Amino acid sequence: MKDPQDTPILSFSSWSSTRVLTLGRTALLVLASAYLVQLAFSPKAAYLVSNVRNLHNPIQYHGADISTDFFEGWYFKVVKQGNTKDDPIQSMAIIPGIHRPSPENTDEEHAFVLVVGLPGPEPAAYFRFPVSEFTDLRGNTQGGGNNNNKGAFKVQIGNSFFSHDELILNLPANRFDRVPARELEEFYTEASRQYEVQLRKTNSTTSSMENQDYFRRLFPSADTLTKVETQKPFAVHGHFQFPVSTQTPLPTSRWRPSIMGITAYLPFLECNHGVASLHHTISKGRLVALRGDNEVLGEAKFDGGVGYIEKDWGVNFPSTWVWAQANMFDTAPGSSLMISVASIPVLGPDFTDWIASNMPILSPFTNVPGRLVIFYHAATKTLYNFSSYVFLARAKSLRTSVDIERGTQTFSFMATTKDPNNSKETIALQVNVTREIGTGVPLRAPSRVKGRMFSGVEEAVVATTDVRLWRVKSGEVLVEDQSLGSGLEIVGDIAWLEAHINHE
Ligand SMILES: *[C@@H]1O[C@H](CO)[C@@H](O)[C@H](O)[C@H]1NC(C)=O
Ligand SMILES: *[C@@H]1O[C@H](CO)[C@@H](O)[C@H](O)[C@H]1NC(C)=O
Ligand SMILES: *[C@@H]1O[C@H](CO)[C@@H](O)[C@H](O)[C@H]1NC(C)=O
Ligand SMILES: *[C@@H]1O[C@H](CO)[C@@H](O)[C@H](O)[C@H]1NC(C)=O
Repeated sequence: MKDPQDTPILSFSSWSSTRVLTLGRTALLVLASAYLVQLAFSPKAAYLVSNVRNLHNPIQYHGADISTDFFEGWYFKVVKQGNTKDDPIQSMAIIPGIHRPSPENTDEEHAFVLVVGLPGPEPAAYFRFPVSEFTDLRGNTQGGGNNNNKGAFKVQIGNSFFSHDELILNLPANRFDRVPARELEEFYTEASRQYEVQLRKTNSTTSSMENQDYFRRLFPSADTLTKVETQKPFAVHGHFQFPVSTQTPLPTSRWRPSIMGITAYLPFLECNHGVASLHHTISKGRLVALRGDNEVLGEAKFDGGVGYIEKDWGVNFPSTWVWAQANMFDTAPGSSLMISVASIPVLGPDFTDWIASNMPILSPFTNVPGRLVIFYHAATKTLYNFSSYVFLARAKSLRTSVDIERGTQTFSFMATTKDPNNSKETIALQVNVTREIGTGVPLRAPSRVKGRMFSGVEEAVVATTDVRLWRVKSGEVLVEDQSLGSGLEIVGDIAWLEAHINHE
C-alpha cells in the first residue's frame, strides 16, 4: 500500500471507488479502536457497561446508572378495526420514556408519556414528568409469565404503569406539556419541505415555490397553531391488557440476543432497537381524554383489537430513517412486519463527531445504511429476517414517492433473504406503505441537533401496508395481504438512503 503521505488528497478521485472505500474504512477502524479504548475509561462508559450487562434483556430499562446522553422509550401500538368494514379504523401509539440530554442541557431532562392518535379533536398529547417520578419496577422479578421472561418489564411514570402485558394510564392535566407554536411551525415547515423534495424527484415539472406552500397548507395554519397554545390542557386515562399467552416474542439465541442480531454486541451505537411482542390480542382496552371534570374530548375502546410493542434506547435518534410497522393483516392474521432503515454512525456518535471535526475527509465513511427488517408469518410460525446482519440478506430497493393527485405518500421497499425452510430457495419481500399527506402527527424524539426532545418526526398510525412475500425460484406466493392501521415515519435525508440502498 502506498504511504498516504505521498498521495495528494485530490488524486482520491482518480482511484477506483472500491479502493477509496476500503482505505477509508481501514483508516476508520484503526482510529476507532484507539478511540474506544479512551471511551471505555470516560464518564460515558456507563452506557457501554449497561448495554453489555443488558445484552440478553433488551426490553428492560437500560438507564439505571446513566445520568446524561441517554434516552429510552417503549412504543405500544394498539389497533382496532371498526365493527363494519366501513367504520374508521382506530389506531394509537402510547410511548412512555425518559430523556437525559448531554450535560449542557440537563435542565431539559425529564420522563414523558406521549399519546398519538387520540380520539377527538386533539390528535396527540405530551405529558412531562420530573425524572424522579420514573421508576424501573423490573418486570422479570414480578412474575411476568414463565414463557415470556425475556419480554417482561415494568416501569412507573407518575401514577401510570407500563409493562409487557398491561398499561395503566393516569396522565393528569397538570403534567400536560403543550408543544409551543414555534416548535410546531418548524415541524410543519420541515415536513412540507420533505414532501416537496420527494415530489420534485418524481415530478420534475412542478414548480418548487408553488409546492412547498401547497404542502404547508395541508397542515394546520400558523394562526391555528397560535390558538392551540391558549387551549386548556387535558388529562388522559386508560387501561389496556395484553395477555402474555397471546404475545409473540422474538426468538432469541446467544448470538442473536435481540432484533439487532449480532450487532447487539456493539455497545456504543447511537440508537438501539428491541421488539417485545410482534403481535398480541388486546383483551381489554379503554381510553378517555378529559378536559376539566367532565368535558369528554374523546373515548376509545380497543377490546378485541391487536397490539405490538417495541422500544428504542441510546444517545439520540438517528439523523435519517424510515420506519414502518404493520400487524393487522386480513388473510394472514397474527402476522407482523417491521422495517427500519437508518443512517447508522457505525462506530458510535462520539467517534463520528470527533472525525467530523478532526478528520473531515473520513466523514463520508462514518455513516452506513443499516436495516432491521422482519416479517413474521403466523400461519407457518416462520420469521423471515431481511436485516443487514443476516448472511445473504439483501435490500433490493427503497423509494419514497408523493402522488399529489391522490394526496398520498408511499414508501416502497424490497429485500431478499435465504429461505429458512430450503437452503436452495430465496425469499423476496415487497412492501408498499401509503399514508395520506398531512395526516401524520408531530412526534417528539431525542434530537441530536436540538439537544433535547423535539417534534422532528411525522408519525402516522393509520397508514396502509401492502405486502407480498414469495419464493423467487418457484414463484410460489406465500403472503399477499394488506394491513390497515400501520405505523410510518420518514425522517431526514431520504435521498441519501435511497442512493445507498438502490446501488447496494
Ligand atoms: C406533475 O405535476 C403537475 C403540476 O403540479 C401535475 O399537473 C401533473 O399531473 C404531475 N404529474 C405526475 C405524473 O404526477
Ligand atoms: C433474525 O432475527 C431473529 C430475531 O432476533 C432471530 O431469531 C433469527 O435468528 C435471525 N436470523 C438470522 C439469520 O440471523
Ligand atoms: C417448512 O417445511 C415443513 C416440512 O416440509 C412444512 O411443514 C412447513 O409448513 C414449511 N414452512 C414454510 C414456511 O413453508
Ligand atoms: C407496490 O407498488 C408497485 C408500484 O405501484 C406495484 O408494482 C407493486 O405490485 C406493489 N406491491 C404490492 C405488494 O402491492
